[in-house]
Amino acid sequence: MNRIQRVAVVGAGTMGRGIAQVVAQAGIVVTLIDREPELVRASLEEIRRQLDRAVERGRLDREQAAVALSLIALDTDLQAVADADLVIEAVPEVVELKQDVFRRLDQYAAPEALLASNTSSISITLLAAATQRPGQVIGLHFFNPVPVMKLVEVVRGLRTGDQAVEAAVEFAQRLGKTPVVVNDSPGFVSNRVLVPMINEAIYALMEGVAPAEAIDTVLRLGANHPMGPLELADLIGLDVVLHILEVLHHDLGDPKYRPCPLLRQMVAAGKLGRKSGEGFYRYQE
Ligand code: CAA
Repeated sequence: MNRIQRVAVVGAGTMGRGIAQVVAQAGIVVTLIDREPELVRASLEEIRRQLDRAVERGRLDREQAAVALSLIALDTDLQAVADADLVIEAVPEVVELKQDVFRRLDQYAAPEALLASNTSSISITLLAAATQRPGQVIGLHFFNPVPVMKLVEVVRGLRTGDQAVEAAVEFAQRLGKTPVVVNDSPGFVSNRVLVPMINEAIYALMEGVAPAEAIDTVLRLGANHPMGPLELADLIGLDVVLHILEVLHHDLGDPKYRPCPLLRQMVAAGKLGRKSGEGFYRYQE
C-alpha cells in the first residue's frame, strides 16, 4: 500500500478537530468535513487557538504552526473524501449514523483508500460490513485531548487485511503516536478496562462511600492517575461513558458492566460533563 499522502476527517467535533490538527502538524494534507458549516469554521478557529498556544509554550515555532494551518482544508460535502488515501470517521457514537457514513464513504472514496473509524466502542467488523471493502476498514482510536495523548489503538476487524493494519501503524507513527494493535471486541482494550473503573467510581459516589473530590484524590494520589475517574468521566462526556457501558453490557452480556443508575440520571438531566458545563463538577466558560 502506498504511503498516505492525503487524509479526510469526517466529523468536526472535539475528536475530529484534534485528529485533523495532529495530521496537519505531521505535514500531511487534511480535509475536515462536517455537514454543519458553523461547526467546521469553529473547529478551525479552535485549531488555530491550539497552535498559537503551542507556539507560546515554545512547543512549535511560528512557521511550523502556519504550515500546519495551511495544510487544513474545510468542506461540508462528504464527496470531498474522493482524493483521500485515508478517511477517518469521527461522527457521534450512533451505530446507524456510522453505518450510513461508511456506506456513503464506500461510494465516494477512491477504491484503494483506507476507511478508519475513531469509534470508542462500536464494532469495526459491523462498520466494515456496510462497505464492499471490509479488508480496508480499520479502527484508529485516538484519545482526548488528541494532541497530548500518545496512544492510538489500532483495531483489527474480523476481515481487516494485514496491509491495512501495516498502513495504519505506520500512519500513527508518523503522527508521533504509539500504535497498539488490538482485535475487535466490545470496548477494545482501552474502554474495556477504563470505563468499568469509572462506573465503579460512580457507584462508590452513589453509595456514599466518599464525595467526588475524595474519590478522585484517592486515584490521583494513590494510583498516580493524572485525573480521578470522575474528573475523567466529565472530560470524556457522561453520555459517551454511558454509551460505552451499554455496549459492554449488551455485547458481553455480563451484569458486571451494568451502568450505574446515577450515571443514567445525570445523562437524563443533561449533566454531561465539561461540554454541558456540569457533570460531577461545575465548569465555567
Ligand atoms: N488540547 C491540547 N493540549 C492540551 C489540552 C487540550 N485540550 N489540554 C491540555 N493540554 C496540554 C497543555 O497545553 C500542557 O502542555 P505544555 O506542558 O506543553 O504546556 C499539557 O497538556 C498539560 O496540561 P496542563 O498543565 O494544563 O494540565 P495537566 O497537567 O493537568 O494535564 C491532561 C491535562 C493532559 C488532560 C491530563 O490531566 C491527563 O492526561 N488526563 C487524562 C486524560 C485521559 O485519560 N484521556 C483519555 C480519555 S479516554 C478517551 O479519550 C477514549 C475514549 O474512547 C473514551
